[in-house]
Amino acid sequence: MDKKRKSHRVATSDDIEVSTYLEIARELKGEQLTSEIETISPGVREAIAVIDFGSQYSHLIARRVRECHVYCELFPFDEPWEKIASFEPKGFILSGGPAGVYESKAPLAPPQLYAGHLPILGICYGMQAIVHQMGGQVVPADKREYGQAILNISEKESPLLADLPDSMPVWMSHGDKIVEIPPGFKSLAYTENSPNAVIGSDANIFGLQFHPEVVHTPNGKAIIQNFLYRVCGCRGTWTPANFISESIGIIKQQVKDGKVICALSGGVDSAVTATLIHQAVGSQLTCIFVNNGLLRREEPERALNTFRNNLKMNVVYADAPSRFLRRLKGVTDPEVKRRRIGEEFIKVFEYKAGKLGKIDFLAQGTLYPDVIESTSKETKAAARIKTHHNVGGLPAKMSLTLIEPLRYLFKDEVREVGLALGLPEDMIWRQPFPGPGLAIRIIGEVTRERLEILRAADWILMSEIKQANLYRQLWQSFAVLTGVRSVGVMGDYRTYGYLVAVRAVTSQDAMTADWARLPYDLLARISNRIVNEVSGVNRVVYDITSKPPSTIEWE
Ligand code: XMP
Repeated sequence: MDKKRKSHRVATSDDIEVSTYLEIARELKGEQLTSEIETISPGVREAIAVIDFGSQYSHLIARRVRECHVYCELFPFDEPWEKIASFEPKGFILSGGPAGVYESKAPLAPPQLYAGHLPILGICYGMQAIVHQMGGQVVPADKREYGQAILNISEKESPLLADLPDSMPVWMSHGDKIVEIPPGFKSLAYTENSPNAVIGSDANIFGLQFHPEVVHTPNGKAIIQNFLYRVCGCRGTWTPANFISESIGIIKQQVKDGKVICALSGGVDSAVTATLIHQAVGSQLTCIFVNNGLLRREEPERALNTFRNNLKMNVVYADAPSRFLRRLKGVTDPEVKRRRIGEEFIKVFEYKAGKLGKIDFLAQGTLYPDVIESTSKETKAAARIKTHHNVGGLPAKMSLTLIEPLRYLFKDEVREVGLALGLPEDMIWRQPFPGPGLAIRIIGEVTRERLEILRAADWILMSEIKQANLYRQLWQSFAVLTGVRSVGVMGDYRTYGYLVAVRAVTSQDAMTADWARLPYDLLARISNRIVNEVSGVNRVVYDITSKPPSTIEWE
């Protein structure tokens, strides 16, 4: 992905409109950062530190721990020990990683970690690091063990393996093997190829040769849960209700009698952020909602109704479709569209914010995956840019402090918190919608007439997808107004109308996507309704390409 394109893709957040606009503005204006982020740590006493050796599964470990209602954070293996210690974990999990412990510069766990008498669970490379650092021996294996294996438990009394079946499938992925376990350890379970598939010591240090965090290890979560509850003594305090009450306390302390602004987009992250802050500081929060005229049908009305009427928030509504349309006149290049929309958003946002008097804080819906990505070893250099990308465009004179109450949450946790805060389900489960909105779903020039056609087609598509109960299963589903016109026949007349493309994809994270196998009769209904009900359209096609090589959006 080239640099220019990458700067416009924010894959982890569904609620990417605002951050994308502000990111573009940063690029245009240069770095003008607000004051340092005040981290809102959830302050949960019961926490686990996951030491990250760079495995592609490290995020998954953190998610599984959180699913067990125990708070955890990821720390790069070379994080200064003081920082890890000040987190006051009740135990450590060492992740997998691509290295070999016998290599000269192999990443290892901070030595202090072993001196603290806290429980440790090493997974794959994490286990090998334990073995290596505690006096055992790891060597490269002749061949890599990859895939499913059957684990047989030999020490049923171990708390780590309590209440598990005698044998079960586990997922292996390792190229090294343990030839000698360290003094004080014993083997607790084995597979055909790994006599030491699970090891443990009386000092509550354990190692797993397989990956309990992946779905291919069906009992993996139970093993992690045993470690958290039976070994570390956790009780499961990480719940949406606790998060909400702790966050409200922290936000109150931080904001005091200051004023906060938050840009609302209609997406889930900014909605949850604003609602949380509103519960903490009430009318000290003002939200700004910019209608750029590129939203879907009824979207601005729905968002306003929720925030103003139902949640009783102060919302400044900027009704700006004409401004955006003027800036898009004659523009066909997708990147120019994006840039113009970004610039215009910043102008409108600044203008509205400027009328509010002195403001102290800017609330932003950054999520944990963005934070991890910004602070992981490889991306440290880019960290500040990425972490701040969504505020960089604001004028330095505003000197706002950033509040990011969701910066430790995964997406599914944001949704749970949103539901617990009483936000409507359709807002919580809204599919991602790009910042430049319908402008990048109209190939060629964006005009009022084309927007109306696309909105009408999109409305039909959405209602049919929802009717078929497929909305939540699909990552995204939308209509595209292609620049193509084709000949058709309606009654006795020949028509020359627009071609609408229907796009529906499944995906985990937007990095890759597969076209959804929608039922034929559903496609038939969508097509019939669009050509019959949307004047100007006489043909509908279904996009059957995956990403890669295509992208999800058409522009
Ligand atoms: P692509 O089309 O690159 O999209 O496969 C990946 C995800 O990003 C969204 N997307 C955007 N989001 N501004 C945004 O805020 C953009 O310019 C933009 N372009 C694509 C897209 O909807 C999908 O979820």
